[in-house]
Amino acid sequence: MKLAVVFLLAGLMWSQNQPKKGEPVVQPIGFSHRVHAAAGLDCRNCHRNADPGEMMGIAPASACMGCHKTLAAESDGIKRLARHAENKQEVPWARVYAIPSYVYFSHRRHAEAGAKCETCHGPVASRDVLWKENDISMGGCMDCHVRHRARNDCNYCHEPR
Ligand code: HEC
Ligand code: HEC
Ligand code: HEC
Ligand code: HEC
Ligand code: HEC
Repeated sequence: MKLAVVFLLAGLMWSQNQPKKGEPVVQPIGFSHRVHAAAGLDCRNCHRNADPGEMMGIAPASACMGCHKTLAAESDGIKRLARHAENKQEVPWARVYAIPSYVYFSHRRHAEAGAKCETCHGPVASRDVLWKENDISMGGCMDCHVRHRARNDCNYCHEPR
């Protein structure tokens, strides 16, 4: 019970600076998933899910320059991207989906269980801009766990690890 109160307070404080569901998230450099999917790139080209597998991660600016050294090199966005790559500074992408640190979540375990990116993030490959369109609240997690007969006791997601 004490633990639940701590989560509740932490949850309230945390939720204040999260993107609202349904509102497009403004990024420091306009980036279109639709354009890059149409260019034949797979999600895993830019989101590698490095060990230990919890985070998907976002490709560093230097990896983008593999194509953009020449491609659209004169555009404003790519000039800024090139400056980040030269200075070995990552682009400060704004987060779209995030859960508080007191919740345990592993991308790899969900991929192994057969969950597709679209299930939790919507049709990203057809979006020019992303927003939080699917439910990753506690209720959203638990509904899917019920459907897939995965555990739903508090410690499964909140166990201090
Ligand atoms: C496999 C090649 C490839 C890679 C890798 C790639 N892009 Fe692109 N990008 C493209 C193509 C193709 C376009 C469309 C170009 C056009 O319309 O002229 C594009 C367009 C863009 C544009 C719009 C440019 C403009 O015209 O204003 C931005 C910004 C951009 N990419 C950012 C990125 C970022 C950030 C990364 C790394 C996370 C990345 N790209 C990685 C192929 C790539
Ligand atoms: C060319 C590189 C590239 C490819 C390919 C790509 N992404 Fe991304 N992704 C990015 C960049 C850059 C961002 C940060 C900007 C943004 O949110 O639009 C991002 C952000 C995201 C986010 C939001 C992360 C957060 O902050 O919560 C999700 C979800 C995502 N991508 C899913 C996908 C999926 C699913 C695919 C395959 C359909 C995919 N991406 C393909 C580069 C890429
Ligand atoms: C079972 C639901 C689920 C699935 C399936 C899923 N994600 Fe996520 N994703 C999340 C949640 C929840 C977060 C927030 C995690 C956090 O804050 O620690 C997130 C965050 C992200 C982020 C930003 C933070 C990070 O982990 O780097 C990216 C990028 C991302 N997802 C891409 C993808 C891609 C690409 C796929 C498919 C290969 C995918 N996701 C599949 C639920 C999911
Ligand atoms: C697409 C349905 C789906 C969604 C949405 C989903 N899960 Fe799961 N989750 C599963 C399944 C199925 C398993 C069982 C995997 C296994 O037994 O290997 C699982 C397992 C887990 C595990 C145990 C994995 C481990 O490493 O021990 C945790 C923790 C977890 N989920 C947390 C979450 C959280 C937090 C969310 C919401 C942000 C979420 N899940 C959303 C289907 C889902
Ligand atoms: C399947 C994963 C999962 C399970 C099981 C789970 N939670 Fe959560 N819980 C979450 C996620 C994800 C959040 C963050 C919600 C958000 O970001 O809005 C959360 C947040 C909370 C919060 C903060 C307030 C809020 O609602 O945002 C409390 C309190 C909480 N959980 C208590 C519990 C208790 C008590 C149980 C057992 C009955 C439980 N949780 C079981 C995933 C889970």
